[in-house]
Amino acid sequence: MRDQIYLDCNATTPAAAEVVESMLPWFSEGFGNPSSSHAYGRVAKDAVERARGQVASLIGCAADEIVFTSGGTESNNLAIFGAAAAATRERRGIVTSVVEHPAVERPCDRLEREGHPVARLSVDGTGRVSAEEAREASNGRTALVTVMLANNETGTIQPIRGLSRIAHEAGALMHTDAAQAVGKIPVRVDDLEVDLLTIAGHKLYAPKGVGALYVRSGTKLRPFALGASHERGLRPGTENVPGIIGLGTACEIAERILAEEWIREEALRDELWALLTAGVPGLRLNGHPTERLPNTLNVSFPGTLGRSVLEKAREVAASTGSACHEGVDTPSSVLTAMGLDAAAALGAVRLSLGRNTTREQIATAARSLIAAWMAAD
Ligand SMILES: Cc1ncc(COP(=O)(O)O)c(C=O)c1O
Repeated sequence: MRDQIYLDCNATTPAAAEVVESMLPWFSEGFGNPSSSHAYGRVAKDAVERARGQVASLIGCAADEIVFTSGGTESNNLAIFGAAAAATRERRGIVTSVVEHPAVERPCDRLEREGHPVARLSVDGTGRVSAEEAREASNGRTALVTVMLANNETGTIQPIRGLSRIAHEAGALMHTDAAQAVGKIPVRVDDLEVDLLTIAGHKLYAPKGVGALYVRSGTKLRPFALGASHERGLRPGTENVPGIIGLGTACEIAERILAEEWIREEALRDELWALLTAGVPGLRLNGHPTERLPNTLNVSFPGTLGRSVLEKAREVAASTGSACHEGVDTPSSVLTAMGLDAAAALGAVRLSLGRNTTREQIATAARSLIAAWMAAD
């Protein structure tokens, strides 16, 4: 495992050393319950509030607009079910896209089964939705528009500010799943004009099992879990103090290094693309050529399965968007929605770089992937 080059940072990232270090005291001497009124509790509460400020600072909101959750999935569920439940009887409609993560797609599917009209925006060949279609789908009966900021498979970035304006003109709320974007590109809630925004800790070098939902002040949301009054009543349950502290540290680091790291990773990614296209005639780029996460390169290898390439490229840890169940390969629904035929979609490999990716690794990975493609049947 250690010898493999990790190019799967959209799946998860390692917790940064500084993040782990900041968390450790909160497992032991800082074990207090933030709800307790004695010193143990007060110290833990102060630390949680500091972390809230660090998360808020990264996305440009007020600290009290951050609700800590268990991760991207829960944040998306809270935003979607919460907004749908808080809407009036006349406003039951949901507008979403055909390329959402299952943590958005499946809550929308359930709402549809429960009687909410759901409109799913199509995407073009680069994976982007169109403002025209969003405008046609949004009306006085729309409660929520939920479209991801950046796609996990292709990295394609959606025109969220335009969609927010369309949602608001219709009187609806705007949610964006920014699990893949936060920490990789500048994300500011006022630039995006969103009401709700999802953050997932483990995509930005914080641990797994912690995340946050940005809830714009005044936004009506009904919690789906009931308990005590933690997190303004929106997410009851004793706080995951070490995880929250880790997320805060991760956001502070991201804010510090984002501008520099964005350029570095983008240059390495483009170098990887150049090396691969030189060695694989007919290699196809999946995703938007420019409106794309700086770390993400999704390519389709011609004439073979992405899975076969990765099985042979033993030095590389990456992923395909397709699923293999009982020997049958199913192409990625994101890529087929973009118009790829089954063969091109099954040839896809997602290479996602991170802070630990080096130039030497890129050269080795490219050599390995090219050799694997040549040897593939
Ligand atoms: C776009 C997107 N949304 C949501 C999630 C889910 O986040 P979590 O794993 O923290 O529940 C992921 C993780 O893969 C993701 O890529």
